[in-house]
Amino acid sequence: MALQAAYSLLPSTTASIYKEGRFSASLKETTLTSFSFSNNLRSDKISIKEQRRQNPRFSTGIRAQTVTATPPSNEASPEQKKTQRKGTAVITGASSGLGLATAKALADTGKWHVIMACRNFLKAEKAAKSVGMSKEDYTVMHLDLASLESVKQFVDNYRRTERPLDVLVCNAAVYQPTAKEPSFTAEGFELSVGTNHLGHFLLSRLLLDDLKKSDYPSKRMIIVGSITGNTNTLAGNVPPKANLGDLRGLASGLNGQNSSMIDGGEYDGAKAYKDSKVCNMLTMQELHRRYHEETGVTFASLYPGCIATTGLFREHVPLFRLLFPPFQKYITKGYVSEEEAGKRLAQVVSDPSLGKSGVYWSWNNNSSSFENQLSKEASDAEKAKKLWEVSEKLVGLA
Ligand SMILES: NC(=O)c1ccc[n+]([C@@H]2O[C@H](COP(=O)([O-])OP(=O)(O)OC[C@H]3O[C@@H](n4cnc5c(N)ncnc54)[C@H](OP(=O)(O)O)[C@@H]3O)[C@@H](O)[C@H]2O)c1
Repeated sequence: MALQAAYSLLPSTTASIYKEGRFSASLKETTLTSFSFSNNLRSDKISIKEQRRQNPRFSTGIRAQTVTATPPSNEASPEQKKTQRKGTAVITGASSGLGLATAKALADTGKWHVIMACRNFLKAEKAAKSVGMSKEDYTVMHLDLASLESVKQFVDNYRRTERPLDVLVCNAAVYQPTAKEPSFTAEGFELSVGTNHLGHFLLSRLLLDDLKKSDYPSKRMIIVGSITGNTNTLAGNVPPKANLGDLRGLASGLNGQNSSMIDGGEYDGAKAYKDSKVCNMLTMQELHRRYHEETGVTFASLYPGCIATTGLFREHVPLFRLLFPPFQKYITKGYVSEEEAGKRLAQVVSDPSLGKSGVYWSWNNNSSSFENQLSKEASDAEKAKKLWEVSEKLVGLA
């Protein structure tokens, strides 16, 4: 049963390879691709170091305003200045797993200052230190997505820092596959959808204004998706399947009085997580339709691969946690390390070739990115609009 659950979390490419009985994905190719990517990162770092050597004011996270106020004598053009300043990326849930690995990958380039938006301040600080991030490359700020008040407080606090906002990554998530009863956010919404979708929905809506103001060459908002919400894949077809139905449970408040599930059905923790991921992917597309043309912001989602070792599975049964990583590593070969997944998300944050808006990115076995197809429900524009309108009411924006 644990293995069946494990299989449900396979990436699409792996799932189809598994189905065809071919397990010989080229590890060598993957390793080589990763190697050349990290080499690129390293050479970026060298060039930034070189810039710091030539212009000491470039160090310790100086903001664009500072650089502009006292230009060096061999003054760069306005376009060059834009590309020279460090970008600022807010990453929710950067205290572990994918979020931490992405923060580290971005910091290592020397081109980004990462705001680690986390509910546990001390854990985030320790995590940043444990992966060797240097102080000047990150700031930890408190954010509890299970409280809409905390989301608003975070936005206020962020604005007080007067930092520009260039990229927002909505990454944090909770997964409660074994919960028998629902638990709830501060405002009384079922916890998985309340945190993963509603908390991020409010955050992204409020910070959109700040993103709009960014003068960074490419401003982006990324909402992490998942294969488990996509029923056009083998993994997405393992019960309980994601299904938002007509959103009657969400419309009635998702507070356990009528229902704790978006479709109005019986509570199921694994389904609640998958439903929340469908919401994430629908929200990204609705943001794209409403705001991409007007603001120039790139909206994207992704499935980073199966990162079997992260804290996401902390509430799963011990047998699952024991078997899942080796099952992914040696049987399906679908395993993606946290480091590799972090590099993938970092690509979506900053790689010029991944700047297209409205895309759901995935990676093949050679670690090359491609535009993936979402399931019928996860790409349903009518449902996305309805989800937007109901969510607006729940978070107090309408
Ligand atoms: N692991 C996979 O195989 C996989 C596959 C597809 C997609 N994903 C997606 O990847 C993203 C990251 O997951 P992960 O695997 O890296 O799991 P993870 O290690 O458990 O990371 C989740 C992060 O979310 C944070 N978080 C949880 N509740 C929060 C709240 N109320 N407010 C603020 N932060 C909160 C956690 O904070 P604490 O450290 O304080 O707990 C943690 O930093 C999720 O969106 C997940 O759906 C993961």
